[in-house]
Amino acid sequence: MATRLKFEDSQFLQQNFQEQLSRWNRSRLAPAYPDEAVAQRLETDARMARLERAFIEELRAEVRPEAARAPTDVEGFIAWFEELKQSGPGQHDRLFPWLADEADRDQIRWFLGQEAAGEAGFDDLVAMTQVKLPTQAKMELARNYWDEMGRGNVKGMHGPMLSQLVDILDLETRIEQTCWESLALANAMTAMATSRFYAWHSVGALGVIELTAPDRSAHTARALKRIGLSNAERRYFDLHAVLDVKHSKDWNEEAIKPLVAEDPRRATAMAEGALIRLRCGARCFDAYRAHFGLA
Ligand SMILES: [Fe+2]
Ligand SMILES: [Fe+2]
Repeated sequence: MATRLKFEDSQFLQQNFQEQLSRWNRSRLAPAYPDEAVAQRLETDARMARLERAFIEELRAEVRPEAARAPTDVEGFIAWFEELKQSGPGQHDRLFPWLADEADRDQIRWFLGQEAAGEAGFDDLVAMTQVKLPTQAKMELARNYWDEMGRGNVKGMHGPMLSQLVDILDLETRIEQTCWESLALANAMTAMATSRFYAWHSVGALGVIELTAPDRSAHTARALKRIGLSNAERRYFDLHAVLDVKHSKDWNEEAIKPLVAEDPRRATAMAEGALIRLRCGARCFDAYRAHFGLA
């Protein structure tokens, strides 16, 4: 078993730091102009990039022993990776059946607010990760991205679909109202997708989202149905309960397999990325259960 980080020992697993990182991500990734306080921005970027790297290295240290045990041959690695769906950190958390069957409307709203605030934008993460990837993997990320884009139909775009749900339920998604665990999840995903040092980590982390999202999405869709949301209003979660099964299969086949076949070292990096993502998720579920007073 990997060692679990103690929050009190970490300068990164803290509300203040994660808020700071979230605000930096928001501003540094926003389209801007060349004459906007450039010197100051460069200085901030350099300082924050160092802190971001130290944050990811801390998360890496937590998962490295476990990731080092993942096989590095293609078939062995895929079997290890797919097993994360059953026994990976945070899988089958009892939070989800509770949300589906018992939580009231405001509890579901709070949960979705945290999740929406902690969503780094899967489409952009895929877009940033695919830069300079080998052809076959790049093509798979392109197909996945195109689905995120509603295959060219604005109404089918996944990001705006989630934003609609935020509006319908009038969810709170301000950074300062979001627990650090949710912010850390989004910040870790953003760090891995934007830094080329962690490109293979990002492929693993995005792949494990596709692998594990359908089950959580199905529970969330059930919760939304129970509190009276229509088919159209629940679409984001109904869609991901089904579509991500296919996304996961394709990601494993077309991205992970050829990348590992070309260089086995990538398996270890992808394993670390996947475990980092799942551990960030597990910390969120712990925090949400604590918020709801669930044992
Ligand atoms: Fe999506
Ligand atoms: Fe997907």
